[in-house]
Parts: sequence; C-alpha cells; structure tokens
Amino acid sequence: MILVTGATGFIASHTIVELQNNGFDIVGIDNLCNSSVSVLDNIQKITGKKIEFSNIDIRDKDALKNFLSGYKIDTCIHFAGLKAVGESVAKPVEYYDNNISGTISLLKVLNEIGCKNIIFSSSATVYGIPAFVPITEECPKGICTNPYGWTKHMIEQILVDTQKANPDMNIVILRYFNPVGAHPSGLIGENPNGIPNNLMPYITQVACGKREKLFVYGNDYDTPDGTGVRDYIHVVDLARGHVCAMSAIDKKCGLEIFNLGTGHGYSVLDVINTFEKVNNIKIPYEITARRPGDIAMCYANPEKAKRVLGWVAEHSLDDMCRDSWNYQNNLNV
Ligand code: NAD
Ligand code: UFG
Repeated sequence: MILVTGATGFIASHTIVELQNNGFDIVGIDNLCNSSVSVLDNIQKITGKKIEFSNIDIRDKDALKNFLSGYKIDTCIHFAGLKAVGESVAKPVEYYDNNISGTISLLKVLNEIGCKNIIFSSSATVYGIPAFVPITEECPKGICTNPYGWTKHMIEQILVDTQKANPDMNIVILRYFNPVGAHPSGLIGENPNGIPNNLMPYITQVACGKREKLFVYGNDYDTPDGTGVRDYIHVVDLARGHVCAMSAIDKKCGLEIFNLGTGHGYSVLDVINTFEKVNNIKIPYEITARRPGDIAMCYANPEKAKRVLGWVAEHSLDDMCRDSWNYQNNLNV
C-alpha cells in the first residue's frame, strides 16, 4: 500500500488517479490547509475507486503513527508542504516548521512502521540561478532566493543523509519544473486561494473575468522575447512520472534524483498566445517590472528520467492551456 501525504492537493490528486489506474492501493493524509476533502469524491468519480483518508498534520507524530499502524505501508509519496514563494518570505518560521519539521516527523514515523521507500516532491527551484540550461540533475544546486526554496534544498539533504545511513532505504527525489493543466475530465485541478502567484491560474482567472488583466513581470530578460522562460509540464504527465518512479523503487534504486520536465522552454508571451489561440479568448495584459527573485530561464534536460524510468512528458502546451481553462470553467458552473 502507498501512503500519499498532501493527498488532496493539486499534484497528489492527479498522482492518485494515475496510481489507482495502475492498480496501486492508496492511503492518503492531508491537514486540508490548502485543499478540500471534496477532492476525494472527484478522484473517485474518475477512477471508481475509494481512497482511505485521514485529516492529519504530518507534524502530529502520534496521530500519524496511530492511523498508519492499521496499514502495511510499503512506500510513501511525500507531497505535503506549503508552497507559496511570497508567503514563505513573510512567514519563514512557519515554512521551515511545516515543511522541514513535518518531513522529520514523517521520517520518524516511517522508520517506526518499517516503511523503507520514499518518493519526494522537490522542485527545480533548488538549482537557484541555474549554472546551465537545459538543466541536468548534475547541475549544482544554487542559492535559493526564498525560504520555500531552502526548505526543498534542506529536505533533499536530509533525505540524502538518511538514505546514506540506511542503505536498505530507497529514496527518489523528483524535481518538478512548472506543473500546470488539469485532469481532462475537469474534475480535479488547481484552485489557489486568493490572488494566484503562478502564471497559469492567473491567466485562467483573467479569462473568466475574475481579474481584469495579467501583469507580465518584465520583458527585458535575456530571452528570445524578453519575458521569462519556463518548462511548463502537464500535471497528468507529472503524475505519471510518480508511477514510473515506483519502478525505480521496485528495482531497489538506493538514492536517485530525477528532473521531471518536458525539455522545452516557453516564454510568458508564448503561454499567453497559446492560451488565446487554443481557447479563443483574449487575455489582456500589461508589462510591469520584474518580480524580485525571478530568473530569466529555467528548463529541464529530462533525459535521465527517459533512460532510467522510461518516462517522457507527452502533453503539449496546447493541451495544458486547454485543460487549465476547462477546469476553471467547471469551477464557475
Ligand atoms: P498543494 O498545496 O495543492 O498540495 C499540498 C498539500 O499538502 C495541500 O493539500 C495541503 O493541504 C497539504 N499540507 C500542507 N502542509 C501539511 C501538513 N503539515 N500536514 C498535512 N498536509 C499538509 O500543492 P501542489 O502544487 O500539489 O504541491 C505538492 C508538492 O509539490 C509540494 O511539496 C510542493 O512544494 C511541490 N512542488 C510544487 C510545484 C508547483 O508549482 N505546484 C513545483 C515544484 C514542487
Ligand atoms: N509571471 C508573470 N505574471 C504572473 C505570474 C508569473 O509574468 O502573474 C511570470 C514569472 O515572472 C515567470 C513565469 O511567469 O517568468 C512563471 O512564473 P510562476 O510563478 O508560474 O512560476 P515560477 O517559475 O516562478 O515558480 C514555480 C513555482 C515554484 C517552483 C518553480 C519550479 O511557483 O514553487 O516553479 O520551477 F519552485
């Protein structure tokens, strides 16, 4: 059985769908600080399968151990964490406590229940200003520009040291690039609280009239059109990456790190133009100043995931724009 932390969140919900469709049994936990329990019903509508679930904070070691002692957990896929970059600058202690203390509490419980396999949600943010693009896993980790990034950086180190001390453990660190899109059913997707930080949810909220226009943060970067370039990846492809990572766990991989990205960089203007073309909607925008902490260009070399896991991202930017809009439309009905 697989334990999924942060189970009702954006990426975990899509991953549970792919895992269930591949025959895995899931037990999920989440403290619902950034998601709703109704997500579970929508997952069940897609897969027809139930998920064992409990509302637990990963920092609550006793509750966690109590709940998990009822199951035989072979692998934990650890998504739970706070992820808003700006908020992490304002509330560093909250972020270090939630993400780092939470992971340490989880690791202690996993050790106590004999679970030796972990897949962890890391981020391309650990590369800082990347030393080179496309970014391979050998690219040195950089200086993070915010506490959120440092939590990923530090949790990676904790996991590396834990696996070194326990060579019978298998730990896969997945560095996600920019997840966007939604399940094609429109039943699950990303629905951020408040003003969206990220580009795609902001665009869909402009498209539905919830916000007047998009602010494009800078057009003077050293990129083909001056706007920031990122490796946007469809969340369903990302979710499948976790199913493929299970094969590495099966092969007793020890410690492995994989980039999960498409290998293609798109600029902010590319995303706006594609969204307008695919969905036939105009996105009003205004160029404003650069956002502090942003980098010019970030995209993956995903060759290692292809070679070792047999994983390749299949969805195009058109698919990402269509599915994001389909989900936003479903929210509005
Ligand atoms: P999300 O906020 O939708 O999901 C995270 C879930 O964890 C939420 O449901 C939240 O309620 C839960 N959670 C947070 N703290 C918890 C705690 N202490 N105990 C129990 N549950 C807790 O975010 P997401 O986009 O699905 O991200 C999932 C993971 O992937 C996170 O670790 C995130 O940092 C990482 N990641 C996300 C992105 C991205 O752009 N979305 C990029 C790289 C990495
Ligand atoms: N952007 C805008 N306007 C907006 C929002 C974003 O122009 O309203 C631009 C940004 O300047 C950047 C691009 O769109 O050039 C993408 O920005 P996002 O905020 O969507 O994504 P980031 O690359 O900044 O960061 C995201 C997650 C991080 C994660 C990182 C991994 O927010 O948590 O991807 O690569 F670490």
